[in-house]
Amino acid sequence: MNSSYDMLCVQPSSDGVQVIQLNRPEALNALTTQLLDELASALSVAQSDSDVNVVVLTGSKKAFAAGADIKEMAERDLVGILNDPRQQSWQRISQFSKPLIAAVNGYCLGGGCELAMHADVLIAGRDAKFGQPEINLGIMPGAGGTQRLVHAVGKSLAMQMVLSGQPISAEQAQQAGLISEITQPELTLHRAIEIATDIAKKSPLAVRLAKESILKGMDTDLATGLRFERHAFTVLAGTQDRNEGIAAFLEKRKAHFTGR
Ligand code: HXC
Repeated sequence: MNSSYDMLCVQPSSDGVQVIQLNRPEALNALTTQLLDELASALSVAQSDSDVNVVVLTGSKKAFAAGADIKEMAERDLVGILNDPRQQSWQRISQFSKPLIAAVNGYCLGGGCELAMHADVLIAGRDAKFGQPEINLGIMPGAGGTQRLVHAVGKSLAMQMVLSGQPISAEQAQQAGLISEITQPELTLHRAIEIATDIAKKSPLAVRLAKESILKGMDTDLATGLRFERHAFTVLAGTQDRNEGIAAFLEKRKAHFTGR
């Protein structure tokens, strides 16, 4: 356990997978400036740690995260929000280029849902609740809830969630495409680690470029996305991992990727 964080438990990596747990149970993991800063720092350490190929982000049984910390928000006026230091943390979190898997149980609300949507793969326990309840506070989502949620669930459901503040169940979230799998709550982290361990065995270069290509495509027109994909695909032709992957297939053995 890394003790340099007050609000996170960061486990040592195992088989290329590192688990980061949000750890503010007394406030349902509400995202304070400090928590977000610690998370951004932990991800930048993971980014440059060659023993980490994939990160799994999780919370507690009761809450992945119940949103931005409302008590902290209450102390900020317009200028405070304009100069909000959390904005830099969100930027740093969104720049993490290795795969990020969210294992969600319980409440996943407001900034918590926005944080989960930074993950590349989301899986959730049967009891999870996803929502953007900011409207009930007289505000609106401010860390991607009006943007990423539309990509994830489509316009109509995103509008319904953001304008009514009503959460959706894990089942609705899966039907809409926000999450890819539902598990029994006690198995969510286990399943996320299983998926992460599988991804961690692939070529890190191919994984990184495939992730970048998918994210690029969500952010641009089709022609630009296809051009990016083709460049990335071509770059991979020059890697040792590509030679290894193809050779392993032809020799009927398991590939051993080195990230070169
Ligand atoms: C600060 C929070 C919190 C939050 C819960 N707590 N959510 N503290 N900020 N977002 C605290 C409570 O004050 C309480 O502490 C403790 O966690 C347990 O919560 P309870 O309300 O007693 O639990 P429960 O009755 O089970 O209700 C759970 C809940 C409710 C339905 C999730 O806590 C709730 O509605 N929370 C707020 C959800 C929300 O509105 N999120 C959006 C925030 S705005 P004490 O000390 O009182 O016992 C946002 C904007 C993002 O996220 C913008 C990004 C830039």
